[in-house]
Amino acid sequence: MTSLVITPLGYAAGARVTGLDLRNPLTQEQVAAVQAAWHKHLILVFPGQDLTAPQLITFTGQMGEVERNDNVPYYRDPDYPEVLLVSNKPRNGKPSETRNTGRNWHADLTYTDRPAKGSVLMCKEKPVIGGDTMFANMYMAYDTLSPVLRDFIETLDAVHDITLIKGFERRDPAQIAEMKRANPPIAHPVVRTHPETGRKLLFVSERIRNFVGMTEEESQPLLQFLNSHATSPEFVYRHQWALNDIVMWDNRCTLHIALKDFDQNQARHMMRCSMRGEKSGYVIAPEKEDGASLKSALASVS
Ligand code: OGA
Ligand code: MN
Repeated sequence: MTSLVITPLGYAAGARVTGLDLRNPLTQEQVAAVQAAWHKHLILVFPGQDLTAPQLITFTGQMGEVERNDNVPYYRDPDYPEVLLVSNKPRNGKPSETRNTGRNWHADLTYTDRPAKGSVLMCKEKPVIGGDTMFANMYMAYDTLSPVLRDFIETLDAVHDITLIKGFERRDPAQIAEMKRANPPIAHPVVRTHPETGRKLLFVSERIRNFVGMTEEESQPLLQFLNSHATSPEFVYRHQWALNDIVMWDNRCTLHIALKDFDQNQARHMMRCSMRGEKSGYVIAPEKEDGASLKSALASVS
């Protein structure tokens, strides 16, 4: 039996894992070794893993509870609701609704009350050049802030909004209405502690509208700073896909973005399985959504 080898791929994050055949269930020791490497490197790359959908589900299930994607039930594999198809290949004669998935910095399912614990993405078809994915380390983003700013943002919750998914408004109108209904704006803390490593991290993204109790105008400059700081090149690992790569990211302590750095006439077809996260956050009632009370307070003094 070949033994498991872990090779770091980047300073910020990322390691390659070889010596495993993910078509077969892993032993308890192998699961423990993969999880330890995952907590250390945040993003694991398993090259040369040509899995079927059920094999991908079984592997994901060994890493966590498999997410059924009921909050966005549109682009699933028809036979396996756990598998999302992230693809630019036309479906039923129409352009794929997932052809531009992930084009801003985000973590998966933060617009729900269970942001994903992690995701597992497998590359089944790829363009000749490009179609890369970048990942950023949110422990580093937190650790490198000034102590005074760290203390301030610790008091904040941020409103995550599904409509801020890039290109959201270009989707099918009936699906838009249903996705908004199923996923009202939800607030999550800006600073979190990772449940397994115990480390603090910055939990921001480009799908945040404002901070709770602050207007959008007040929130945006700080949000923009935090997002650009969080995605500084030195915190980033950039993955150049090879066919049958599987990449597993810790969605709690990283952000990611899918780059449009390829010829759109070439197929890019990925299968994604996510792990269900812990319950988090509280839904924001529409009247509180944009700091309306603060706005009216300002109106009364002008
Ligand atoms: C995702 C995603 C990135 C990519 O599947 O969650 O953001 O590169 N995909 O396809
Ligand atoms: Mn994503």
